Amino acid sequence: MKKLLDILTNEMARAFESAGYDEKYAKVTVSNRPDLCQFQCNGAMAAVKEYKKAPLMIAQDVVEKLSGSACFKKAEAVKPGFINLDLDDAALRDYIAEMSESEKFGLEKPEKKETIIVDYGGPNVAKPLHIGHLRAAIIGESVKRIGKYAGHDVQGDIHLGDWGLQMGLIIAYMKENDMDMPSLSELEKIYPAASAKSSGDEDFKKKAMDITYELQHGNEEYTKIWQHIMKISVEDLKKNYEKLNVFFEIWKGESDAQPFIDPMVEKMKKDGFAHESQGALVVDVGEETDTKEIPPCMILKSDNASLYTTTDLATLVQRVKDYDPDRVIYVVDKRQDLHFVQVFRCAKKTGIVKDDTKLLFLGFGTMNGADGKPFKTRAGGVMRLETLLSDVYEKCCERMKENGGEMSEDERNDTARKIALAAIKYGDLSNQASKDYVFDIDKFTSFEGNTGPYILYTIVRIKSILRKYMEEGGRTEGVNFTAPASDAERQLLLLLTGYNAMMQGAFEDTAPHRICAYVYELANAFNHFYHETKILAEENTEQKESYISLLLLTKGILEDCIDVLGFEAPEKM
Ligand code: ARG
Repeated sequence: MKKLLDILTNEMARAFESAGYDEKYAKVTVSNRPDLCQFQCNGAMAAVKEYKKAPLMIAQDVVEKLSGSACFKKAEAVKPGFINLDLDDAALRDYIAEMSESEKFGLEKPEKKETIIVDYGGPNVAKPLHIGHLRAAIIGESVKRIGKYAGHDVQGDIHLGDWGLQMGLIIAYMKENDMDMPSLSELEKIYPAASAKSSGDEDFKKKAMDITYELQHGNEEYTKIWQHIMKISVEDLKKNYEKLNVFFEIWKGESDAQPFIDPMVEKMKKDGFAHESQGALVVDVGEETDTKEIPPCMILKSDNASLYTTTDLATLVQRVKDYDPDRVIYVVDKRQDLHFVQVFRCAKKTGIVKDDTKLLFLGFGTMNGADGKPFKTRAGGVMRLETLLSDVYEKCCERMKENGGEMSEDERNDTARKIALAAIKYGDLSNQASKDYVFDIDKFTSFEGNTGPYILYTIVRIKSILRKYMEEGGRTEGVNFTAPASDAERQLLLLLTGYNAMMQGAFEDTAPHRICAYVYELANAFNHFYHETKILAEENTEQKESYISLLLLTKGILEDCIDVLGFEAPEKM
């Protein structure tokens, strides 16, 4: 479906043209003075230069040509030269009716369907997930879902850290202590012990580094142990991500890039991009316009070992071969900004990706505790993800008790889980990703205010009205929209018309927080309408059915929005 603002701009363009002005001035936007009008056009002001006329005169000429327009109920020229607009109620009703019949509520299909890889997660195998992994999972999953919803071919890749020194440390420790293949709980103890040992014991550390190198070069014994560790870790990771409603299509890791490293390095040398610098192999990626120095991208260390940059570049080689993506989005801690600047520049310069391949870094800020410092356990340690989830879950159980309502044990557990997830995810996603934010469990789990549970509560409210309506023998098939009967209803309808543009913008700007802002506004507008309107008690059937259609549309849009944010609503709460 065409966006409403485009339809209105077209209508305005006709008026500009027939009044003798260029249609390029006809852009219509949502009003920034909703007390005065719903939409506005400021083009007359911009046209002054070209036509050497007072802006108010231009605006008046245009408004004259709008008389009789089916789009606008009001079009007036006001000082100094604004055109204030209100949409015709019937036109509004028709647009809404068409939305409710359309797939994805009228979201336009993209001009070009892109192949997109979202690289998020990035957990390091054999170390438990902690809250440092939370933001990547939450934001990445949402970015991926937004892309799919917008009509693209999108896959999420977990990009496991499965190949680094931690593996060498674990294997070295196992050898020293004559250990068999570990279970998951043993493994969880081995890594911290091995890591602690390496910080005081140079010999041990050297051994771990040697083992890492040999593992990366095919040592059979180490490979067997590694495969075992991978198997038990990946099973556990899958379970934990599932609890977050996070699912990866691709379970590749740094190790999968290994076979691509040698040929890539050879090619970089042959093409003259890579050169030696103090024993290491580097590619220069500085540009003349840089305001701060961007150091060369290191490809191999002086001992020929590969680095984090090497793996990321080789992974791009592999991705181009396997998927030929138009866009790769990395959702990683913003402190890795420089790393990605280097990797992206190097990948473009050396031809690993085409010039027009979009490589995007969505760097996220830190999740802080109430003290404004990075979130920690009460004892000051790194908090495991499981602990955080169960804390929030407990809090949600409490909130539900306060709220009353009868439920079976199972239903209560399931509902508390859904609310907890909404609390955590919305609390995160409602902030612009790059900003730090404070994880405030009391605020996030509140059923009121700008929170996930409030959005769920609104959906649950709609579901409950619809349930009652159906119990009373109402129908939802073949019901029609009538023009808005009140200002509260009109405001809700107007907000709904902005869905298409909002969702497109959220995709284009990789910005889940836009969806949060929209659902919050929508929930508020709905609740206002709900308090002003007798829905089930309405005696005029046509009017009542129109309200029901509006409830269905609002619920559908809220549900699609929270689905792309990565959570869902219960039946009751
Ligand atoms: N494993 C990395 C870390 O713990 C994150 C990986 C992010 N993704 C990437 N393609 N570099 O820092």
